[in-house]
Amino acid sequence: MTPLVSATIDGGALRHNLSVIRQWAPKSRVMAVIKANAYGHGLVAVARALESADAFAVARVDEGLMLRAAGIATPTVLLEGVFDREQLEAAAGAGFELVVHTAEQVDLLRAAAPGMSFKVWLKLDSGMNRLGFKGAAFDSAHAALGALAAVRSPVNLFTHLASADEPDLPTTGEQLARFDAATRALPGERSIANSAGMLSFAEAQADWVRPGLLVYGVSPIAGSIGADYGLRPVMTLKSHVIAHKDLAAGERVGYGGDWTATRPTRLAVAAVGYGDGYPRALPSGAPVLVNGERASLAGRVSMDMIGIDVTDLKRPPALGDSVVLWGEGLPVEEIAVWADTIPYELLCGISQRVAVTIY
Ligand SMILES: Cc1ncc(COP(=O)(O)O)c(C=O)c1O
Repeated sequence: MTPLVSATIDGGALRHNLSVIRQWAPKSRVMAVIKANAYGHGLVAVARALESADAFAVARVDEGLMLRAAGIATPTVLLEGVFDREQLEAAAGAGFELVVHTAEQVDLLRAAAPGMSFKVWLKLDSGMNRLGFKGAAFDSAHAALGALAAVRSPVNLFTHLASADEPDLPTTGEQLARFDAATRALPGERSIANSAGMLSFAEAQADWVRPGLLVYGVSPIAGSIGADYGLRPVMTLKSHVIAHKDLAAGERVGYGGDWTATRPTRLAVAAVGYGDGYPRALPSGAPVLVNGERASLAGRVSMDMIGIDVTDLKRPPALGDSVVLWGEGLPVEEIAVWADTIPYELLCGISQRVAVTIY
């Protein structure tokens, strides 16, 4: 049975994007960020398609355990680390690498059972003011970790950039300078750059880059799309036409009658809505592709359906015809602008009733 709404995941595009990333950062190893169900693309399927990544990064221990349960043994970094003994034991059993960003996490490692051994990434808060140690607390945490039996030597060094997608701001340069000052004298591998960081700041590429969005073929820089960088979109969100009708000028469409036909109008109804993660914030006029041709939303997005003005299409759509919401031919970056959000949120937000299939 063909699902009404599907997200097709292009495994070839994933591999292509990884190879483009390697060309940009030829001296770095790649930690592909596949947290949040691989940004909505399917954690295990994406990990399998990216088997040549040097490592994976996930946010939480349960995400990493899903990889191990699927037989994926690639080195895996927990970006938020662990928060209690149970998680520490699970991480030890699964061989996860840990980001350490609080004194409590240092204490957990101090109390680790004999025989436990972790590769650790000590996180400097270089200015984002979210996770990490600052100043003298960073130095003390480094010294403390270095003395622990459960921590493999050397301690590796990590930070995260807050505004790398706005390269004209001085803040990334300031963060890089703080990271350099705090770590210059220390041994260990370094990881700084997310997608925007590795694109705009070659000096941030360091030993390991941590791209997420780029892996999925999407640009982190406003005003550009992945194709501008030679990337291919990985997810295409698709639905189908389930009804159509002819409207007279003056007739209104959808909840609240928000959209009024200004001329005799051919309207198609497609089976997709905010219940699938297609954002309700999208206004009338936002583009969709019907049989590969651009048409526009007419009326409010409802839970399971949208209205589309197809009056001007060369070929009037028939029932069952394909409607692309974003992906191949319709960049998710463009839809994010219409929805006043970022592509990350759209990709991560597709709901569990969407059939995600990789090919
Ligand atoms: C610590 C860390 N590194 C890297 C990334 C990847 O970011 P991006 O998808 O912008 O490349 C994230 C994502 O939020 C992150 O939290």
